[in-house]
Amino acid sequence: MTLWGGRFSIKLNDQAWDLNSSLPVDQRMALQDVDGSLAWANALHKAGVLLDEEHAQITQGLGTVREEFVSGQFSFVPTDEDIHTAVERRLTEVIGATAGKLHTGRSRNDQVATDFRLWMLGAIPELDAALKDLQSALVEQAELAGETLMPGYTHLQRAQPILLAHWWLSHFHPLQRDCERLADLIKRVSILPLGCGALAGTPVAVDRAELAGSLNFLEASQNSLDSVSDRDFAAEYLFCATMTGIHLSKLAEQIVLYTSAEFGFFELSDAFSTGSSLMPQKKNPDVFELTRGKAGTLIGMLTGLLATLKGLPSTYDKDLQEDKQPVFTATDTLLAILPVIAGALRTISARPGRMRAAIDSFMMATDLADYLVGKGIPFRETHVMAGKAVRLAGEKNTGLEELPLEAYQALCPAFEADVYQVFDPMTSVEKRNAIGGTSPQSVKNQIKKIKGE
Ligand code: ARG
Repeated sequence: MTLWGGRFSIKLNDQAWDLNSSLPVDQRMALQDVDGSLAWANALHKAGVLLDEEHAQITQGLGTVREEFVSGQFSFVPTDEDIHTAVERRLTEVIGATAGKLHTGRSRNDQVATDFRLWMLGAIPELDAALKDLQSALVEQAELAGETLMPGYTHLQRAQPILLAHWWLSHFHPLQRDCERLADLIKRVSILPLGCGALAGTPVAVDRAELAGSLNFLEASQNSLDSVSDRDFAAEYLFCATMTGIHLSKLAEQIVLYTSAEFGFFELSDAFSTGSSLMPQKKNPDVFELTRGKAGTLIGMLTGLLATLKGLPSTYDKDLQEDKQPVFTATDTLLAILPVIAGALRTISARPGRMRAAIDSFMMATDLADYLVGKGIPFRETHVMAGKAVRLAGEKNTGLEELPLEAYQALCPAFEADVYQVFDPMTSVEKRNAIGGTSPQSVKNQIKKIKGE
């Protein structure tokens, strides 16, 4: 049984059948397809297309089909071209010819767009929960870090000392924006295509606003042509997923670097590291490398769908069948990565001694310039003086804290004996007390705000 045999005299070529079939991908939308069909049957009944008895039969039959999917009893047959065909074929087996009335005024074009949106509305909360759990792991680590100092980098060059807690939280906020983006996307996913027919609308007198409500959509779409061809929501969803992947890849890259012997800032738990088949000493951060790598795959899925959508003639084109695989795979990818990263971060150990040892006095060169600003000298000038001190220390192969007071006073008479206090990294950190800064008080406030206290 296909849904379209009437005008053909020769059976579809086997390989063309395989190419055309979308069941391997779209069977994931089985429950959404049944639920959309139940809602459509109700709408047909209210519109007077289905008699009470027919409606009861279809509803009860779809209930049976749904139950078979839920319990894993449903079996597909080779002629199930897609999930829509499979559901209607099984409904026909269960209730007989009345099943043939269900597709009145409906097309697979509005049906598939509805199923897909319903599926996504179920996936968004799952992603959101996994993101929030990772965010909790980051906050837990930030609280555990207390006032531990670490070097902060720009251009991967030592820049200024920061609090480890501040660094942990710097990975919280991007994920917060990811959650917000997903939440905002819901209002664009939650627009009902069902009742748009193949392209021009349905001739059945259905109340589409009511139909939208019955499927928990915010509203019914306003233009049938747009509605059956719009896949913006899928592209946006893939962008959201990809942006998360990119955020995770940045975090992952830093863990890869910081767990190396060269940095030695963290050690991974054995439960989240892997070994080498050849080198017995190896302890590899594979899960973070995979996270970094999968960001590339996610970018490919987003750009792939955008390329598919580009230049498509209105309205439905079979190209659109390519929309689901990337969305499903991107979802699976993130749902596989997020809990592993959360687990790996909850069990990672920081090595504060190594972090502290990587902070040298040059990282307080800005504080040196600020010291002279405190004496009333313009920053542009103090920047040059501090730069000269850096050059001098470099020439003498010493740290800034080892230059004698006379050397400082030769650069600027305003230097006094208390200048050496600026080389304490905690003093440097404490000064950065404005909102968003790395001072202990500022970071405490940040945690409070995050926790809504
Ligand atoms: N499998 C199709 C898809 O995913 C369903 C819609 C088919 N519509 C059609 N006119 N052949 O897009």
